[in-house]
Amino acid sequence: MSLRDIYAVPNVDASWHVPQTYDGIFDFEFDKGRDTLMHLYQKGKDMQWDAVKRIDWDLDLDPENPMEMPLESNAIYGTPLWDRLSKKDRIELLTHGQAWNISQFLQGEQGALICASKIVTQVPTMDAKFYAATQTMDEARHIEAYQKLLGKFGVAYPMTQPLQQLINDALRDSRWDITYLAMQIVIEGLALAAFATIRDVAQNPLAQMVNAYVMQDEARHVMFGRLSLRDYYPQLTEAERDEREEFLVDACYHMRDRFQGREIYERLGLPVEECVAYGENSETMKLFRTFLFQRIVPVVKDIGLWGPRIQKAYTDMGVIGFADMDVDALHDEDERIAKDFDARRAYVSSVISEGKGEAAE
Ligand SMILES: [Fe+2]
Ligand SMILES: [Fe+2]
Repeated sequence: MSLRDIYAVPNVDASWHVPQTYDGIFDFEFDKGRDTLMHLYQKGKDMQWDAVKRIDWDLDLDPENPMEMPLESNAIYGTPLWDRLSKKDRIELLTHGQAWNISQFLQGEQGALICASKIVTQVPTMDAKFYAATQTMDEARHIEAYQKLLGKFGVAYPMTQPLQQLINDALRDSRWDITYLAMQIVIEGLALAAFATIRDVAQNPLAQMVNAYVMQDEARHVMFGRLSLRDYYPQLTEAERDEREEFLVDACYHMRDRFQGREIYERLGLPVEECVAYGENSETMKLFRTFLFQRIVPVVKDIGLWGPRIQKAYTDMGVIGFADMDVDALHDEDERIAKDFDARRAYVSSVISEGKGEAAE
């Protein structure tokens, strides 16, 4: 399946070219590497999985509410506009809204693929090149998984402008750590929280499974950013760290405020400004936007970008309370949940094969 055939909007560019100006660096010392990163690299190798085999692609989405999400997760649910929609229009809105969401995951995965491969080329040390190489492979598998899932919706959306802008900034900056900051810390941190809402809230087993397995890898990717930058930032001057904090504050506001799903309302002929305003004022959406920072804030604190500028921004955004979250415990939980899905699947297939055996007797 080509996305070209199912894009919901016309004239989507066939490709995107981002000019690059940075040095590709060889490491001729081949040091044995930091234990932290080499341990993560070993884990990255051990935990590779195959999107074709690990996920049960015979499962389907629901025809009326594809991922079987609670209706409250739609930005305009419960408004006078929602009340006026026919059943058919509601189904269309739910389908497009969820497909838009999964499309942004898919588009972001390609961003991660390109950023991880940039890190392979640009980061100075071999241990980080090793890990980034496993991440590059992970991202290719994630693209595969989300593309298959999106194929089940039969509708897709292009990368939104705010996501494209941040990925553009990450790729065009010649400082290698900015790629990590934009991708491993901000975009993947947000993605982890967004994947978690589907894994934990959707009732559709296929949607749950895809997100649980991708999260198992993403937790390592955020850890990669955390370990790399935690070693690097203490070596910078205060002025250099301040530049990073400024970048981070802008990136966080940018991602929080500009993800509005306008394309969906335009495509469906709904009043765009009215729908966006509903999304901005909805209590559920406000909670969701806050929750998105659960995985970012403690990592930012841990990597040492914790000056007054960051703390003020997070206080204003109402997310400073996440600063002391135990991210290691969250990562362990992500791994445990993915393994639970494996166990459930193994159990179901053993019951099915026993049933077949009995039927044959
Ligand atoms: Fe990914
Ligand atoms: Fe990732």
